[in-house]
Amino acid sequence: VRAEVNISIDTTQTGPTIHRNIYGQFMEHLGRGIYEGVWVGEDSTIPNTRGFRNDVLKALKDLQVPLLRWPGGCFADEYHWRDGIGPRDKRPVTINTNWGGVTDNNAFGTHEFFEFADMLGSEVYINANLGTGSPREMAAWLEYMTADGDSTLAKERRSNGRDKPWRIHYWAIGNEAWGCGGTMTPDYYADLYKHWATFAKTSGDNKPIMIASGGHTAQTEWTQTLLEQVPETWSMRMNAISHHYYTLPTGNWDKHGKALGFPETEWFSTLFNTLKIEDYIKENLAIMEKLDPENKVGFYVDEWGTWYDVEDGEDPGFLYQQNTIRDALVASVNLNIFHQYAERIQMSNIAQMVNVLQAMILTDKEKMLLTPTYHVFKMYIPFQDATSLPIAINGDKGYSLGEDKIPTVSASAARDKKGKLWLALANTHPTEATDVTINTGSKIKQAKGSLLTAKAMDAHNTFKNPNVVKPEAYKRKAKNGKLVVSLPAKSVMVVALD
Ligand code: AHR
Repeated sequence: VRAEVNISIDTTQTGPTIHRNIYGQFMEHLGRGIYEGVWVGEDSTIPNTRGFRNDVLKALKDLQVPLLRWPGGCFADEYHWRDGIGPRDKRPVTINTNWGGVTDNNAFGTHEFFEFADMLGSEVYINANLGTGSPREMAAWLEYMTADGDSTLAKERRSNGRDKPWRIHYWAIGNEAWGCGGTMTPDYYADLYKHWATFAKTSGDNKPIMIASGGHTAQTEWTQTLLEQVPETWSMRMNAISHHYYTLPTGNWDKHGKALGFPETEWFSTLFNTLKIEDYIKENLAIMEKLDPENKVGFYVDEWGTWYDVEDGEDPGFLYQQNTIRDALVASVNLNIFHQYAERIQMSNIAQMVNVLQAMILTDKEKMLLTPTYHVFKMYIPFQDATSLPIAINGDKGYSLGEDKIPTVSASAARDKKGKLWLALANTHPTEATDVTINTGSKIKQAKGSLLTAKAMDAHNTFKNPNVVKPEAYKRKAKNGKLVVSLPAKSVMVVALD
């Protein structure tokens, strides 16, 4: 059965710029996200460059990762930066109390993080430890990283191998203050934020974007309280509020639902639940429009993605999960939503980059595979820094299961810096293809790009068969002035319209 949908792109309007940092990645000291996933050490038999594994580096370079967030997450609120500097064999071994109680030899610390970001050409987002740190510890870390003069901390950085100060692009004070970051109320956190932000000083013109830890899921009280209680003053800034939303097939934190071998009801509920993010964004942005009409404060979804039950045999604290064509759909519909609200959402981080939750890359010792989510992020590269364009979708009958219904087609359009027009499409239906007629108000000869689809709902790549789900080239010419592309069931497509 083929459904039909019409898409009109209004090329006469210009929407907000889609900040490339919407494509940010999160790397936390969690499971095999950093150790093994990124860092194997110089003496490893896994081919590496100064300790960073070559295969993962190459895959991430190809992905044009614009931004890296580190060291957590929950881990950030127990991270003491001094543990991760100086000769590696002298660094303390600490316990990762959040994630499996395993030891961390701190081989990956501040210098390694900046070196890694530098190799990828990514901007950096560091999350300071509000939970168990102090303003003094935070201020010293900032001085260590950004001071250029002869202070003892600047000299210490130099003696540890880095001459010039580093540039910090984003700085957050605390993470999930409502939960693992200290189980705080919004009022209490707002006071702490003002206190700490006052002492978050950096040297020279190194002025990071300052982020306050906000709410999650449907919460709006964090946005409301922070905007009401944190004023802009000469001594302190709050440039953005972060928000977290994880997609669980069941919506239930006791039993999330499986990554593989799930029924259609969970295909549907995963997409249904992920689409709720649009309401959560709208509700928070409505408050921001009222309290910050000049749009001075951003709304950053700095943790998002799917969170399934941990696979059998895996450490429950490591949050390792497989990634299927369903995850590709989740990635695509979220990115389409972020594009639409790009005015305030100028940064986001999918959780997480390697081996954790909705990862781009999975590794098993020396083996590596690219997930369907990786492919979506790669297909969407043309949207980084492009100008979003208004889009109207007509005729979509929707995909329903039981009483609920979701749109079959999710889409976004943008014009890149060279003037090229791009369209991203996703078909959420697991069995029905859709023909999409594209209208731009002017003559389009063809759609050309790539298509990602698969037969099974849980189609995924394995270390044995790493290319089960991978994009294929797609091209369709207009006929009699009409351009129609065919979106298979369960698919993501990104095309340039010439
Ligand atoms: O991404 C995993 C965890 O999810 C993060 O550490 C935390 O911020 C969130 O609860």
